[in-house]
Amino acid sequence: GLQNFYYFREVDSTNRFAKEVENSAVFAETQSAGRGRIGRKWESQRGGLYVSFSLNISIPVNEIPKLTLLAGVAVAKTLEDYEARIKWPNDVLINDKKVSGILSEFVGEELSARVIMGIGINVKNKIPGHLRDKAISLKEIDESVSITDIFVRLCTNLSELMKRYPSEWKSILGEWKRLSSTIGKHVVIEAGGRKYRGMAIDIDLDGGLIVRTEHGNEKIISGECFYTSY
Ligand code: BTN
Repeated sequence: GLQNFYYFREVDSTNRFAKEVENSAVFAETQSAGRGRIGRKWESQRGGLYVSFSLNISIPVNEIPKLTLLAGVAVAKTLEDYEARIKWPNDVLINDKKVSGILSEFVGEELSARVIMGIGINVKNKIPGHLRDKAISLKEIDESVSITDIFVRLCTNLSELMKRYPSEWKSILGEWKRLSSTIGKHVVIEAGGRKYRGMAIDIDLDGGLIVRTEHGNEKIISGECFYTSY
């Protein structure tokens, strides 16, 4: 389980810091260089929740996508009262706007590794003007939302899920499907320089998304997902 808790009023990136410590939670009130997926920046004004969990694990590298989905389940359960839904692989949306992003990274070697789960949740932070039609903060729905409450629930859900992993992976995947809005949607997935267009029909046991395209079913392990109307 977790051994240390680091609390920063400000840090460059909790993910960057978490790579240097073991079995820890790293929390920051604000980040000066918050990181998003695919080399993007993550806006990290005060009022948001910025946390990274560094967990020592011994699993093969090809199980990392599963832990990424598991982290999405932890966040979506935490925000279930607000009708949050997961967009594959692990954006969490409310009313089709992004409320949380997850950056999972991997440090070390096969079977003696650490996984870094970096989670950003828009709780009470102001959404910058240029992101307003794409992102939402919980305070827009619930004026009295508290960062501490959300953080405590997130830790509880994540540790409960990690205890069930890997023995109850099937049921965790079932929860992912229940909490996701992706299955049954028409999607375009950009992955490894390729584009897949079709209907998302399932997640398989490895955590791969199955997309029914005009060339048949494709299994996609990671990438970026866009919902389309046809
Ligand atoms: C994404 O959707 O692009 C992922 C965003 C992940 C942001 C979080 S905030 C806490 C942790 N520290 C970082 O630098 N990034 C993650």
